[in-house]
Amino acid sequence: MSSKIFVAGHRGMVGSAIVRQLQAQGHPADRIVFRTSAELDLTDQAAVFDFFASEQPDQVYLAAAKVGGIYANNTYPAEFIYKNLMIQANVIDSAFRNGVKKLLFLGSSCIYPKQVPQPMPEEALLTGPLEQTNEPYAIAKIAGIKLCESYNRQYGKSHGVDYRSVMPTNLYGPGDNYHPENSHVIPALIRRFHEAKVANQPNLAIWGTGAPRREFLYVDDMAAACLHVMNLDKALYDQNTKPMLSHINVGCGYDVTIRELAEIIARVIGYQGDMVFDTSKPDGTPRKLMDSSRLNALGWRARVNLQVGLEEAYSDFLNTHVMQP
Ligand SMILES: NC(=O)c1ccc[n+]([C@@H]2O[C@H](COP(=O)([O-])OP(=O)(O)OC[C@H]3O[C@@H](n4cnc5c(N)ncnc54)[C@H](OP(=O)(O)O)[C@@H]3O)[C@@H](O)[C@H]2O)c1
Repeated sequence: MSSKIFVAGHRGMVGSAIVRQLQAQGHPADRIVFRTSAELDLTDQAAVFDFFASEQPDQVYLAAAKVGGIYANNTYPAEFIYKNLMIQANVIDSAFRNGVKKLLFLGSSCIYPKQVPQPMPEEALLTGPLEQTNEPYAIAKIAGIKLCESYNRQYGKSHGVDYRSVMPTNLYGPGDNYHPENSHVIPALIRRFHEAKVANQPNLAIWGTGAPRREFLYVDDMAAACLHVMNLDKALYDQNTKPMLSHINVGCGYDVTIRELAEIIARVIGYQGDMVFDTSKPDGTPRKLMDSSRLNALGWRARVNLQVGLEEAYSDFLNTHVMQP
């Protein structure tokens, strides 16, 4: 019989893509279990334990987390560190106590120090101070990696525990958050270009010089990478990781300038006006790119190019935010 898989965070952008990917790869729908946060609050230790005890999943994708942009991270630092630590600790420990051998934890590129070589290799972890704005969130994510590694080290041989973690770059695609004030760069630009097109606006202001370089990965590629890493042969995984440096970066391998990104989005949406770069606004760090060579050596590469992914993302935006009554 197929493995019973718990996808934690199945309504989120990444969790929903993981469910789609499992189904696309033929995993039976009735062997995937999930709960909304209203049905099962993963910060509630006893409830999480009871869930694992009654459902007895074989595998877990841990894509549930409290996530947000700079504003939310700065305003609610206590919630970001507390909720993420609790979700991870409860899910990982309950999984272990209920015999789950395979688990994949999702982190983020913000685990790396502020000053770091580009592209950022896995070895950069814990080599310097973190970006202040999301430090509490990043510390929780680092703790998640260390939880997985510690359970492997203590219970790997005795109990067959094999808990892995992946660190995605910036993601975009169906299920993204298009909130006008609190969204990442791609959904924010999609909304703004769309609104500018509908209003026949002659120009659109974009913050900064347009020169910073960023990497973006389509969320279905991310989900495919999650399944790839989860299902990798253990000997191969062990050869390419270390017991205390086991996380795996997931990126598409190239970055684009914000100007290039905006030009592609304008083309995809069909916005004919001009882009005006507001150079009085801050640019942020000049470059942020993951070194994904570890994952490439493990046999995985991104497939969806940026233009195609943005076409899909725009179509999702139209379906979910514009066509709705
Ligand atoms: N989006 C990105 O660009 C990006 C980049 C790098 C890493 N990641 C990582 O990928 C993971 C998923 O991100 P996402 O973008 O998919 O986030 P998301 O869209 O906000 O989804 C997060 C999910 O977590 C669930 N959740 C939150 N608190 C919970 C709780 N207390 N109990 C149970 N469930 C809870 C929510 O469930 P309900 O809907 O039921 O409330 C929600 O569906 C996160 O670990 C994030 O750090 C994302």
